[in-house]
Amino acid sequence: MEYQVKDITLADFGRKEIEIAEQEMPGLMATRAKYGPQQPLKGVKIMGSLHMTIQTAVLIETLKALGADVRWASCNIFSTQDHAAAAIAADGVPVFAWKGETLEEYWECTYRALTWPDGSGPDQIVDDGGDATLLIHRGVKAEDNPAILDEPTDVLELQIINNLLKKVLREDAQHWHKVAAKVKGVSEETTTGVHRLIQMQERGELLFPAINVNDSVTKSKFDNIYGCRHSLTDGIKRALDVMLSGKTVMVCGYGDVGKGCAEALHNERARVMVSEVDPICALQACMAGFQVCTVEDALPYADLYVTTTGNCRIITVEHMAKMKDQAIVCNIGHFDDEIEVAKLEAYPGIKKVEIKGSFCPVSRFTFPDGHSIYLLAEGRLVNLGCATGHPSFVMSNSFTNQTLAQIDIARHSDRKVGVYLIEKKLDEEVARLHLEKLGAKLTKLTQEQADYIGVPVDGPFKSDSYRY
Ligand code: NAI
Repeated sequence: MEYQVKDITLADFGRKEIEIAEQEMPGLMATRAKYGPQQPLKGVKIMGSLHMTIQTAVLIETLKALGADVRWASCNIFSTQDHAAAAIAADGVPVFAWKGETLEEYWECTYRALTWPDGSGPDQIVDDGGDATLLIHRGVKAEDNPAILDEPTDVLELQIINNLLKKVLREDAQHWHKVAAKVKGVSEETTTGVHRLIQMQERGELLFPAINVNDSVTKSKFDNIYGCRHSLTDGIKRALDVMLSGKTVMVCGYGDVGKGCAEALHNERARVMVSEVDPICALQACMAGFQVCTVEDALPYADLYVTTTGNCRIITVEHMAKMKDQAIVCNIGHFDDEIEVAKLEAYPGIKKVEIKGSFCPVSRFTFPDGHSIYLLAEGRLVNLGCATGHPSFVMSNSFTNQTLAQIDIARHSDRKVGVYLIEKKLDEEVARLHLEKLGAKLTKLTQEQADYIGVPVDGPFKSDSYRY
């Protein structure tokens, strides 16, 4: 059997947790029941690069139930739940993921998940953050111009990717061209991955069609907001058992994730400050009762900093050098460049102590002036690095969108290269599948009412410009 997990004996524990999760994932289970008999993914090779959690296990088993041939890797070195990976491996899925991978191992796992035993690549990809898509695109570029792999870079991760690509290039000079030509499409889970896809499309570099799952309303307005509202404080509490009430906190970014995080901290009765660059989001934060100011303004007061921007260099090493003693710094945005971790590690005279192992990474950095700060999950997603990510119910919304996107790619394999949304009717359907579980009862429009507001009786109920 082909897999690499931390401990296969955790499979029974993982299976029990998967059974609990299934009860909380009505959208995925209904999708299995509806599409299972049709087998819309029969024989389709699907590679996933998405946090290998219990909830993802239910997604993987849904794709399998629809006929897919699945291989999986995680999209973050700390986010795998080892019992989930073990259960999936024991179920016969080649999965390459464990909590606490090195970056070299991470990219090797991504490569192995992308490579079927006969050397071929996937027909379709489920991506989260765009790393599988990036590896294929950089591989193609490198085959066209191998010199790019020798361009000097001080970005460690790029050096690792380049080394991996050199190895593959030596074995087959056309490997990534063949892989890219075979891919019918990718469905992208998160805001940051969608940004990458749109940038590639604008540069004319995108090699296959993509479905933007993130911007389904039932994804970004639920997972990003309510998921983070649940799992941010879970991560902080598991990391440091710290009392949040009464603390002064700075939430950087007030988009969907920032809104969920600020609300969670407000619910803990922390005093919440928000930083924003977008005046609309800043005004929304004011309306929610939060003080809007800059990170610099917050430095004398804040006990906790949370970055939620999907942008880089939000908390700089100069900021951390001026923070209060015992300040906590963490990130819930997709990549680890929101906080200047490498510069913090290299700060002259800094002392680092690792408090917990990779099961819940927490480090204390003491500056030469004697003040210390705590960095959670090494600046990577705190909710998945220090806790177990979002709960099943909200992920059922996200992953029902993922499953519908995968069916859609399989059905429209000749689509033009571009970045597409899931149609609104399906978005509404995803929500509908989750209502019964919560005991909600929908009102039905009369024909007269439908005509009056100008929508079909059965939806879609809103125009594309409606913002929810
Ligand atoms: P968004 O685009 O809705 O929000 C980001 C906000 O940050 C925007 O309002 C933007 O104006 C603001 N921003 C950008 N630069 C800034 C700066 N220098 N200072 C202050 N604010 C700034 O994006 P969304 O959906 O909230 O996602 C944010 C990040 O979280 C992305 O990386 C996304 O992939 C990730 N994400 C993580 C999840 C998790 O479970 N940890 C779940 C969902 C998304």
